[in-house]
Amino acid sequence: MAALQLDPWRQTGDPEADGIAKAVHEGGSEFGGKGFAAVAALVGKWNPGQPMDTRMPPEMAEFLLRPYQLPAWADLAAVQRAQAFYACNDAAGQVVLATCSLPVLYIYPEVCTALVSTGRLLRFVRPRLEETLVFVEQAMRPGSLNGPGEGWQWMRKVRLLHAIIRITCAMPAHSFMPDNAIACLAAQMSTEMLHPMALWKEATADKPDHVPLNQVELAFVLQTFSWLMVASFDKLGIDMSASEHVDFISAWSLVGHMIGIVDDLLPGSLALPDTGAAEQIYEGILGGLLAVDDPLLPERPKDPLNQKPALLEDGRILMGALLVVLVDILRNQVPAPFRAFVARWHWLDDAVQSLPRMIVRRMLGLPTAQLLRLGRLPLLHWIVGTLALKLIDLRKWNDA
Ligand code: HEM
Repeated sequence: MAALQLDPWRQTGDPEADGIAKAVHEGGSEFGGKGFAAVAALVGKWNPGQPMDTRMPPEMAEFLLRPYQLPAWADLAAVQRAQAFYACNDAAGQVVLATCSLPVLYIYPEVCTALVSTGRLLRFVRPRLEETLVFVEQAMRPGSLNGPGEGWQWMRKVRLLHAIIRITCAMPAHSFMPDNAIACLAAQMSTEMLHPMALWKEATADKPDHVPLNQVELAFVLQTFSWLMVASFDKLGIDMSASEHVDFISAWSLVGHMIGIVDDLLPGSLALPDTGAAEQIYEGILGGLLAVDDPLLPERPKDPLNQKPALLEDGRILMGALLVVLVDILRNQVPAPFRAFVARWHWLDDAVQSLPRMIVRRMLGLPTAQLLRLGRLPLLHWIVGTLALKLIDLRKWNDA
């Protein structure tokens, strides 16, 4: 397979959805100019299938409900087979999303910057995780992608949200300031600390032509739901045939198309017919992200992506926040007969609390885990963790 040309796609967002967001930003409605930041909340709060807030700008409302023209390469029979497969394995899918698909993004500084920029990821880890699970459930609900309905509206919602974030990342700080001077002073600190443009500029200072949430970033995230899910199912011992792999990757390529990714980066499309390209895209981008400078190496690499250590720290902070939530979720799953022991023996509780780190480390593989500073567990914790994994039903991890 010929090498994929990724770099030019770092300069492209999603022209169709970006045009809608730009029209609202530059228009004269209450969401134009300084009011634009509020439109993200309006779109974010909308539940597909439900009526929209009457304040929704008409061009956005039209975009959100606009039907799709499915591409000629869309194979709805394959999508349906992939959805049926996922329906039988959704609990394992949720484990993969929480312990692998989400954490691997934390080594991608530009993606972290966008996630941190809304301020919600760090403070609301659990709802963000749940939003992702809901989206995947929607995409994998049998029949959801076949025609107009909630599934299609979900795709449009995510696509529009991303276009809005692309604009807020490029808005200067003063455009977030309220007009009233006292409110302005009160807001100043958090605005400066969390201002999307400040964060974005810092992350991309040496890549001025990169667009926020660009095609390469979208393609990578897509493969965490697609190729990485397939590879992780294998790791979890869930058997998938070669044709099931192809179905799954094709289904997610259709999702990618619907959320604005170009065919050139969608395995199974006319432009990229070989579904094997899914692995190539994922591993190619991952390889670039892993090739970062490390002060401990005697021969320091040339740092192809110019990653700054401080930017990787954002990802490690996000990783820490996710682990806090996963520890709580997992402690709730300690089987009843063992609860009294865990409560009484702190060393045992410590070991249980180390378990999410052990799972994430195994799922991610050593190089990614090391970049996120997920160190090896002490021997005792490792032994207890390995035993606990046999007792705790990971499939019920999110029931509590
Ligand atoms: C296939 C690719 C992607 C999918 C399927 C996806 C999916 C989602 C979903 C489901 C949401 C939540 C929507 C809601 O509010 O209910 C969301 C929000 C968001 N996404 Fe994506 N995303 C993708 C790629 C990306 C990339 C590449 C970035 C950053 C570079 C990104 C940044 C964000 C941000 C900042 C939010 C708003 C988070 C918040 O609520 O504060 N996404 N995305």
